[in-house]
Amino acid sequence: MNLMKHLTSTEDLSLSEVEAILDRTRRFKNNFKDNSIQRTLKDRLIITIFFENSTRTRSSFEVAAKRLGAEVVSLDVSKSSTSKGETLYDTASNLDAMMPDAIIVRHKDSGVPKILSNYISCPILNAGDGSHAHPSQALLDLFTIKEHFNFGEIRGKRIAIVGDIKNSRVANSNIELLGRMGLDITLVAPPHFMPKRPSLKQSHALEPILDEVDIIMSLRTQIERHSNATYASLKDYARDFCITKDRIGDRDILLLHPGPVNRNIDIDDEMLSDPRCKVLTQVQNGVFVRMSILEKLILDSQA
Ligand code: CP
Repeated sequence: MNLMKHLTSTEDLSLSEVEAILDRTRRFKNNFKDNSIQRTLKDRLIITIFFENSTRTRSSFEVAAKRLGAEVVSLDVSKSSTSKGETLYDTASNLDAMMPDAIIVRHKDSGVPKILSNYISCPILNAGDGSHAHPSQALLDLFTIKEHFNFGEIRGKRIAIVGDIKNSRVANSNIELLGRMGLDITLVAPPHFMPKRPSLKQSHALEPILDEVDIIMSLRTQIERHSNATYASLKDYARDFCITKDRIGDRDILLLHPGPVNRNIDIDDEMLSDPRCKVLTQVQNGVFVRMSILEKLILDSQA
């Protein structure tokens, strides 16, 4: 039986598959410390195609693949035949004809990885599509939350997702996954950044929820996805929504951000260097989570 599976959104994974990925991630992190990671993807080849810029996700997937012994080919989109008018379908079909073991794609348009998954013969991994989904980010965020609570019960933990939620694929994927894991989610944003999510608690101000949450996930204001200016200035936004040391005080709160951080807009310098802020732990965990995702998708598809 062909067990081919793609990862286009967190909904592609059952809760038991999510738990299996997180367990494997934990083992990879422990194995890394004692230098005992097995090269389970030796002789496999992975292609990355990033039609949008990335610092973390692309390098994290590539490091993850190499740590497991896979080869990586990265298509430089700016030098590809896309500039000669080649369609996305043709680009993907031609890369598929080279018989890679997986293709990792990021695109500015929502739905591209899902469309590609219908006619590509290897697993497609979504590295972020428009404002739709960023499943590996949500999995690494979930792992970081579980690790913070010593891998104990997280059902019922209260999280505020703060910022430009409407345009955020990270928020979409986290709302889906953390909601399924039983976290209590509150969306915090000015009206123009608030999505239509009537089933979730919402607040247009930060202060009233600070004593009500265990976790804050701050998001980047996504200037590139705004079709027109929806606020007077980033400074005005920061005045009300920046996560500052003054605001947080000595509260016992886990602070997350997917990156890139707009310093002193999303989170201030002081909180970024505060031990409660786990931005770089998220990045570190991202490699182990992606090792786990790649291993599962590639080995399952070839079983
Ligand atoms: N978190 C994230 O997606 O970062 P990059 O855009 O740098 O990949």
